[in-house]
Amino acid sequence: MKSFSITRAMCIVAVAAGLSASAAALAADPRPSFTPPSAASLPDTEFGKIVRQGEQIFLHTPQMAEKFVGNNLNCVSCHLDAGRRPDSAPMWAAYVLYPAYRAKNEHVNTLAERLQGCFRFSMNGKAPAADDPTLIALQSYMFWLASKAPTGVVLEGQGYRKLPPPAQKADYVRGSEVYGQYCAVCHGAQGEGQKNGKHWVFPALWGADSFNWGAGMHQIGNAAGFIKANMPLGQAGMLSDQEAWDVAYFMNAHERPQDPRYTESVAATRAKYHDSDDSLYGIEVNGHLLGSDSPPAGGRLIQAAAKPAG
Ligand code: HEC
Ligand code: HEC
Repeated sequence: MKSFSITRAMCIVAVAAGLSASAAALAADPRPSFTPPSAASLPDTEFGKIVRQGEQIFLHTPQMAEKFVGNNLNCVSCHLDAGRRPDSAPMWAAYVLYPAYRAKNEHVNTLAERLQGCFRFSMNGKAPAADDPTLIALQSYMFWLASKAPTGVVLEGQGYRKLPPPAQKADYVRGSEVYGQYCAVCHGAQGEGQKNGKHWVFPALWGADSFNWGAGMHQIGNAAGFIKANMPLGQAGMLSDQEAWDVAYFMNAHERPQDPRYTESVAATRAKYHDSDDSLYGIEVNGHLLGSDSPPAGGRLIQAAAKPAG
């Protein structure tokens, strides 16, 4: 066993030192693995209370953070197993990577700012202030999940998987077939999700109740990586890479709430924020210009604000 650990450690050093790619290739996955603490090990302290609150916000986001959420998704809708599952952008792996530079807004983001973006885009809502109790609880939960993890290290399972480029260009018609066969049963024929009475059981994938055009999941690469590793729920891994690309394209070729950074026109907004093959915003698909008929950003929050008082 000793020789194994030396070899593995040497590979990590080789990667860190930027040595030749062939030396790095010796390690199948050079990223160290990590297991977050079990829920049962959470101490019954004042700090533990806030960690639990953070977990509840993560699981029941519209109920627990009503003022900041415009759709019916939860953080856990895209970060499975309460933010624990590898390859589902787990929270323990994210915690140790902030503060970090982000190309999306071209500066170093604190973790609080990163989470503000989740509310504005993925939750189609409004960013809480950096010191809002909602963000303090979420960060406490993440900190606890990352207990004893190394700081500044990309851990195995971090983020979503990056699939190799598809063999054939991602295709709407093939994607719709994958969708009908594997996804519609839960997410609905129109991507609208499913409710049981007032309670959401399956989240919407597009339309007014989904994430908006500014969210990371609208990028086809992110969606393909997420879907390949996590969907269909309970049968993850059954889709081929090509099927994951096709269905990700299909999902993101539908209207969703407007990008809250919208300026001037769809074309100008595309040029500023979506100028990449990874985004279909501002592209015409089946005769429809995506982004030209989007429900307003902010969803339920906007509707609530527009209601007459009393
Ligand atoms: C619609 C799906 C979706 C929802 C809902 C969602 N996220 Fe995410 N999240 C993503 C995607 C996609 C990324 C990767 C984005 C990127 O890098 O462009 C991400 C990234 C993150 C990251 C950074 C991960 C890393 O390794 O750097 C954190 C932290 C995070 N989300 C927290 C949250 C929290 C907290 C919530 C709830 C308030 C939330 N997310 C809701 C899809 C979602
Ligand atoms: C058995 C039901 C089921 C099937 C089938 C299924 N999903 Fe999901 N999906 C879910 C549930 C439940 C969640 C939220 C996970 C959670 O809350 O723990 C989810 C989450 C998602 C999300 C992130 C949240 C959102 O609303 O954007 C995407 C994207 C997604 N599924 C795409 C797909 C695709 C594409 C397929 C088909 C390949 C598929 N799903 C098949 C149940 C299902």
